[in-house]
Amino acid sequence: MGRDGRLPTSGFKYERIADVIRRDMLDNLLPNDILPSERELADQFGVSRMTVRAAIATLVSQGRVYNIQGSGTYVGSKEVLTKSGALTSFTEDMVARGLRPSSRVICAQRVAATGMIAHRLAVEVGTACTHVRRLRLADEDPMALENVYFPAEVLPLEGVKLAESLYDQLAESGNEAFRSEQEISAIVLDDETAELLEVPEGAAALVVTRVSSTKRGRIIEYARTYYRADRYSFMTTVERESGER
Ligand code: GLP
Repeated sequence: MGRDGRLPTSGFKYERIADVIRRDMLDNLLPNDILPSERELADQFGVSRMTVRAAIATLVSQGRVYNIQGSGTYVGSKEVLTKSGALTSFTEDMVARGLRPSSRVICAQRVAATGMIAHRLAVEVGTACTHVRRLRLADEDPMALENVYFPAEVLPLEGVKLAESLYDQLAESGNEAFRSEQEISAIVLDDETAELLEVPEGAAALVVTRVSSTKRGRIIEYARTYYRADRYSFMTTVERESGER
């Protein structure tokens, strides 16, 4: 059931069941916890076991659960945001997991770069910038809060489609993000951000600070994105550098 005790009304039945399992069960379980059996889920939702099976298959394809033959269905680990150094946008990250990305714009304005922003974007203090603050959602669930600065020359506020992928729009204007310097740290969210991300006050988040540039080395964004720590982990491949040992 949904939070209000009813099933959501749009989409195929199995998709709706998958949605409810994700929201009401997975979010309250830990990785590797076992889910109720197919029969129990079918009884609980008043649907056929075939529908439950299709819902589970959807969740398996999204990496949210995994099956062990003859044993049951288990909660998968958190959604991995970055795999081995791939530079991706929020939109790409969500689509890859079968989730529907969307944005709620909190603020979009033209500002003059102050010391810190100018330094990160490698522009003069006072240079015109586009500042965008958006809550990013996946299947309507808040996932991340982005705070991004672009040189206005690269992404002017006029004409930008704020609800859509900004990386796509940068690429369309010949400024595709090619490389990012990224720092990942942890913080305790302030009350306002916790409320926007729909997590309890005092919850932890992963902060990704990213400075991106084009293939030619032009800096195109300085972003600070807060990701829900209960939903994400970062994965990188590490290798011993030759001659190190
Ligand atoms: C992630 C990055 C941001 C980037 C954004 C672009 O959130 N951390 O630095 O600006 O993706 O996403 P999209 O192209 O979906 O707007």
